[in-house]
Order: sequence, then C-alpha cells, then structure tokens
Amino acid sequence: MDIKNISVFENRCLINGEWLTATTLLDVKNPVDDTVLTQVPVLDDVVIHRVIQDADRAQKAWKQVAPAERSQVLKQWFHLVMQHQEELATIMTLEQGKPLKEAKGEIAYAASYIEWFSEEAKRAYGDIIPAASSSEILVFKEAIGVCAAITPWNFPAAMITRKVAPALAVGCSIIVKPASETPLTALALAKLAVQAGVPAGVLNVVTGSSTKIGQILTASSVVKKLSFTGSTEVGAQLMAQCAPTIKKLSLELGGNAPVIVFNECDLEQAVQGVMDTKFRNAGQTCVCANRIYVQSGIYDEFIVRLKAKVEALKLGNGLEDGTDIGPLINRKAIQKVEEHIQDALSKGATLVCGQESNDSQWCQPTVVRDVTQEMLCATEETFGPFAPVFRFEHEAEVIEMANDTEFGLASYLFTQNLNQFLRVSRALEYGMVGVNTGLISNAAAPFGGVKSSGIGREGSRYGLDDYLEMKYVCVGNIN
Ligand code: SIN
Repeated sequence: MDIKNISVFENRCLINGEWLTATTLLDVKNPVDDTVLTQVPVLDDVVIHRVIQDADRAQKAWKQVAPAERSQVLKQWFHLVMQHQEELATIMTLEQGKPLKEAKGEIAYAASYIEWFSEEAKRAYGDIIPAASSSEILVFKEAIGVCAAITPWNFPAAMITRKVAPALAVGCSIIVKPASETPLTALALAKLAVQAGVPAGVLNVVTGSSTKIGQILTASSVVKKLSFTGSTEVGAQLMAQCAPTIKKLSLELGGNAPVIVFNECDLEQAVQGVMDTKFRNAGQTCVCANRIYVQSGIYDEFIVRLKAKVEALKLGNGLEDGTDIGPLINRKAIQKVEEHIQDALSKGATLVCGQESNDSQWCQPTVVRDVTQEMLCATEETFGPFAPVFRFEHEAEVIEMANDTEFGLASYLFTQNLNQFLRVSRALEYGMVGVNTGLISNAAAPFGGVKSSGIGREGSRYGLDDYLEMKYVCVGNIN
C-alpha cells in the first residue's frame, strides 16, 4: 500500500496555516520492515522561532472568538476525524505498527477528546466568591496563551487531541511536536483541523529534531505552557528547561502499573482484564499492567487461563486481518523486553509461554510465573508484551508491594468484595485505579498520575484547567 494515496496523507508541516517543507528531511519508517514510508521536514531554528510569533498573533484573535463558535469548529473537526477514521487508522498502523482494529479504536478515542472539549468549550466557568465587606470577588478563567505539546509515538492521535482540543476550546493556540517515529497521524489530523475551520496559526505542527525544537519551545517566554507525554527522564529534563520562564506544565510520564487479583474475584473477568490492560498496543502504553499480583488461592488456575488466552494471540503485520499484536516500535524496545524476560528467568521465574529470546522485530507475547520483587520487571516499566505474574498471600502485603515504586500512574484490582475494593482503592498511591476492568481510558475521566508519573490531568472537566489561568478581580466600595 502506498501511503501517499491516502486522502488525508500529508508530509509537510502546518505553520501559520501554510504547509511547509524544508531542505533537510527525516525518514518515517514502517516498523514492520523498516521500509521508508515518506520523509518529513527537519525545520530549522528560524522557522521554529517564527511559528511561536505566529501562534502568539493567532492566539490574540482566537481568544476573542465566542466560545460557542470555537465549540462549533471543534465539533466539525470531530466529525471530519470520524468520517476519515479508516484512512487515519491506516496511516497510524503504517507508521506505528499497531493492528488496524486498535488504530481505528484509537482514532475514535482521539476524536472523543475533540467532541468532549467541543462541549466543555462553553463551560469554562469562573466564580463569584462572597466577600466580607462592600466588595465583590470575581474569578475569571482566561486562556493561558500560546501552548506547546510534545507527544509520544505510542498513541499518535489520542495524545495529540487530548492536549490540542482543550487548548483550542478555551482560546489558546498550540504548537505540536509529534514523535519523530509517528508524525504522519499528527499531520493528517491537522489537515482535517484546517478543513474544520481552525484559523491559521492556532494549530501548528512542527517536525525535526526533538531536542532542538524542545529547547526552543521551552526557552521561549512567549510559550506559556508545555504539555508532554513520554518518559519520566525526558519529562524531568523538560521541566528543568521550563523553569527559567516559569511555564505551566502538564506531564504524563512513566508508569509501573500493578494489577492485583484477589481470591474473591470473578476469575474470567480478571484474566480478560489483564489481557486488555497488558496487551493493548503490544504492551506499549503507560497504563499497561507491568506487574500482575495474584493471590495464592487462585494462582495456578489464573496462570492456566492466562496462558490459553496469550497463546491465542496472533502476532503479525497490523494491516493483516486477525492481527492482535503488531511489531514493537524499534529494536531497542525489543531488547528491553528480552532483558526483563532473561532477568526474571535467571533469578528463578518460570516460563509459562512465549519465548526466552528473540532476535527479530517481532516480540512474542510472553508469560512468566513465580516472579519476585527482586526482578527488574518489578521496578522498571517493560513497555512490551511481557506478563510477569507474582504470587501473594495477604492484602496488606500486596498493597505494600504495589506501592513500592517511584511511579503512580495507573493501577488495577479485581475483587467482588465491596469492602476490599474500597479499602484497596484508597490505599493505592496512584492517580487512577481500575476496578474489575483493564480499560480505564475515557475522555470524560481525569487521566494522570502522582509521584514520578506526572503533574496535571487530561480529559474530563478538569482537563480544561490546565489551559486556563485564574484572574481575581476585586470590586470594592459597592454601595
Ligand atoms: C499512554 O500510554 O500514555 C496513554 C494511554 C491511554 O490514554 O489510554
């Protein structure tokens, strides 16, 4: 399939309403076989500085547009994205590797953020606070200004729309730097945003050197906010770069999600929940199960049922019918999974299914049992299709193990015991807890983490706040 024949395909950058290319170009590859799909511009510093000025000018006009009108533009963008779901998903599968059915799901998920914030655009309420004397305390909520978004390759559409949609909804402009591995989904989304009526300069998409673009965006005093999804290491670096200009930050960083399966669970539901959270996007999500803790009373039966489901997963090219697991994004990602499997086996874990080592682009879904807290997979995010299963005896013990990490993004528990669900949900030091489900992502919910997993929330009504500043107005001497 020639990607250039897809109607929403675009390989130039969107800058102030114009599609620009550059003399230096960057290959975009298909992770299935490393073939080059196309090339995108490596923009130079001058262009990046210019785009910031353009976004600043555009924002001043966009914030004056009535919220209902901004809402209509977003609604139109939502409809266009859904109308082109299949084409967008095909572009995503080609550059990212995930199975087409999952890519279609991600496009719908991405679109749901646009729809959600098209509605929230009308609800950036302020406050009137009762004052002590003859005065009024008014709180206005105002668009923060020019924003920057640096987005990852694992969700090339949804991680963009959940930053861009709230920004546009409240009257901000935004400059998006998509991951170098997956810029085409971003550019295709931008093409539809232009068709939907997003004015020139309000949404800009830039490609090229992540380090250089990140440095310019973070150093600029015109850029008032940065939203980043990616590793904790890079998030901390960007945070430091934003410090001199005191930027507002939203950071969605690494995870190390525990899944706790109690004796009193619905076992089939628990096994399916683990499948959903572990193998979505071949295990390459920040909210993927990283550690699976199963209580001893159901441990052996859980392993038998998990093995059967994992062995039924079909590995292959994401464009082929029936594929459940596509290629991992690159060789380094596979090496990390191999390292975690080898480490666990060398320290006493037992292979249940999958393979001990892999020397290709393909990473076989793998389950190991009798895993302990001393193994690498207990402390590091694997980001691949590897399911390590730990055994535990008591609730207090598993809560301690689950919280024994610097990360605090997603966590999951499976139990039919109401008291246990409440106790454990409260005890888990995480921004999100899935109870009797492995799928927690939803535009209406506040997505985000605590500890080294980040700052701020995306989605939900709280997702608007990250793009707003409060202004307190004191009206005195009222008589
Ligand atoms: C992520 O992996 O960063 C996001 C996953 C999601 O939104 O479900």
